[in-house]
Order: sequence, then structure tokens, then C-alpha cells
Amino acid sequence: MIVKKLKKKFPKIFVWDYLENYSKNRQKIIKIVDKVFKSGNLILSKEVANFEKKFSNFTNRSYGVGVNSGTDALLIALLSIGIEKDDEVITVSNTAVPTVSAIVSCQAKPIYVDINENDYLMNPNLIENKISKKTKAIIPVNLYGQSADYDFINKIAKKYNIKVIEDCAQSAGAFYKNKPSGSFGDLAAFSFYPTKNLGGYGDGGMVLTSSQKLYQRCIKLRKYGMSKLYYSDFHGINSRLDEIHAAILSFQLKKLKSNIIKRRKIAKIYNQNLKIKDLILPVENKNNFHSYYVYVVRHPARKKIMKYLMDNNIFCNISYPYPIHSMKGYKHFNKKRIDLKNTNKLSKQIFSLPMYPELSPIKIEKIINTLNKF
Ligand SMILES: Cc1ncc(COP(=O)(O)O)c(C=O)c1O
Repeated sequence: MIVKKLKKKFPKIFVWDYLENYSKNRQKIIKIVDKVFKSGNLILSKEVANFEKKFSNFTNRSYGVGVNSGTDALLIALLSIGIEKDDEVITVSNTAVPTVSAIVSCQAKPIYVDINENDYLMNPNLIENKISKKTKAIIPVNLYGQSADYDFINKIAKKYNIKVIEDCAQSAGAFYKNKPSGSFGDLAAFSFYPTKNLGGYGDGGMVLTSSQKLYQRCIKLRKYGMSKLYYSDFHGINSRLDEIHAAILSFQLKKLKSNIIKRRKIAKIYNQNLKIKDLILPVENKNNFHSYYVYVVRHPARKKIMKYLMDNNIFCNISYPYPIHSMKGYKHFNKKRIDLKNTNKLSKQIFSLPMYPELSPIKIEKIINTLNKF
């Protein structure tokens, strides 16, 4: 009985939670799903086309191709520009595995550049040094919700005639120099995984581009390379966005802007009130409108702090504890010694505090008070 009462008084605070959002929108979501089920179309139909149009407009792009996940969006983007065996693709090691797994799925090789110590994003000063005859593309990752430095990155890409694919899995609703994230590279890849800023109720992703040629390739690539029914022009994959997910995502898109404002408010409260010694708070770059997909802090005593917070029913996350180049599955690509000093150092110190639009003021206060007592 006492435990039950305590649990009610001090409920668990998760790093992310969709149930509060669902309970608010349950009737609307059920109506949307029912409408799709009654329509007689479940895959790649009106809802997908409608969402592709809405999201590409939102991102200032001419075309959107709805696919099964953010991982597939990256893979299809890479395949559309002809990435193949032994090509090199420059990216970062402080990212989610799929950024690199998409490169490896094309039999290409990931080449890493280090990140900045303040914002944890690709350091563009280090790119040129990594360019070789085999370099075909750069994938900057808009990590944690803010954009990499595209003015600089696109200039280098142009100089060497290489393509840029934005990994926007974490940056829906962010802006760089007042333009939406996803509007800078030759292509952009988004994820609609439930935790994301624009999250669905299952897997989903989209490739965006303003090139008609690349769009047409992406459309074929997501459906076995087919140009017409049962006829493939080239080898493709099966990566379709379901109608129910597209319909729900169109509904979620309407709330994206207000949700980002809520995320930014939470970040501001954290920024103003967290006062623990040696805790490094996130930096919002001057050209960026940060969307705070996650609120990442740094502390040398990460393990102790996370354990202390967990003992107080506050659950954090680490994005990411293992840089990709250090993992067993990807180590073999680093034939030469690679210098990723910041990546290695930061991976031991970063962790993210609870962050989602419905996070209540009471929970925020509890997180801050608990942390400040550490
Ligand atoms: C940076 C980054 N890239 C790519 C992906 C892949 O997206 P998905 O999980 O939808 O395949 C994710 C999602 O985890 C991500 O965070």
C-alpha cells in the first residue's frame, strides 16, 4: 500500500514517453486509422502521396518519397546517387548505427571525421583532409536536433563534385539560417520512428530532394526498381510507407511546430535552472534553431549521476555510448589509425535528460531539483 502510494506520488519519469500524447489524441488517432482501414487502400496510396506532399512543402523541397524507415531513407538516397562497392562516404562516428549501416549496405566504406567539442556535430574543417578519389558523398548528421554547418559543407562538396545527403532523422522542425533542416543537401533522409520530433506509431521514413531525376530513381528504388507493374529497370528494395502511418504522420505534422516550441521551452528551463558543478549544457549554434530532439548534457561522473537519477525514478539515455568505429561490427573499416579525439572523449561523458513535449512542469521541476542535489 505504501509502495503504491509512493509510486503514485513519485511516478517514473522516462526519457521519452508517447502514452501522454496518445491519451490526449486517442479519439482522433482511432478515427484516422478507421478511415484508412475503411478506404480499401493500405499501402502507397492517397495518404502516402498526401503526406509526401505536405512534408516536402514543409521542408521546402520539390519531392518526397515515403519509405519504411529512416535507415531505408538513407540507403535509398545513397543508391539513388549510385554509391557502390568500394566508394567512400564521409560521415561521423558519433551517430546512430543506421547512418553507417546504410553506407555499408551499399558495400561502400564509411570514412569518419571528428566532431566539434561544443555542439557534437561534424567538424567541417576536417573534411577536406579525408577526401580521396573514391569519395562520392558526405553524410552530415543533424544530431540531437540541430543542423550541421551546411554553408561550409556544401562549399567543400561543390569544390570536389561530391554529393551531400543530410541525415535529418533527429532534426525535423529544426532550422539553419532560417531554412528548414532537410533543405540543404542533394538529398535528405528523415526518420519517423516514434521517439522522433515527428514521430509515428510505428516505423517510417522519407527521402527528400529537389532533383526530379533523383526523385524518379528513389521512387523506383523503394519498389524493386520497378517502372511499371512486375517489371524492374534495376535492382531495388521493398521499402513502403503504410497508409495508416502516413495518415497519422499528416496529423502529427500539424503539431510539429508547437511541439518544437514546447521542447525549446523545456530546454530553456533546464538551461536556466540546472546548477550542478561540471555539468556542461547543450549549445545552440548562432545559425541554428535547435529542435531539441534530445537534451544532451555532459559530465565526467556520468555513470554515478545516471544511477542516482534512476534511484530517484528518473531515467536518462546515452546517445551514443559506443562510437561506430569502436564497435565490433564496424571496426574492420578503420584500416589506418583514425583520430577521433572528441568523439571518443565525449562518448564517455554525454547523456540525455527526459525530453518530450508533454513533459509536465512538475516532472521538470523534479528532474531539476533532484539533479541539483547530486
Ligand atoms: C541519426 C539517425 N540516423 C538514422 C536513423 C534511422 O532511422 P530509423 O530508426 O527510422 O531507421 C536514426 C534513428 O534512430 C538516427 O537517429
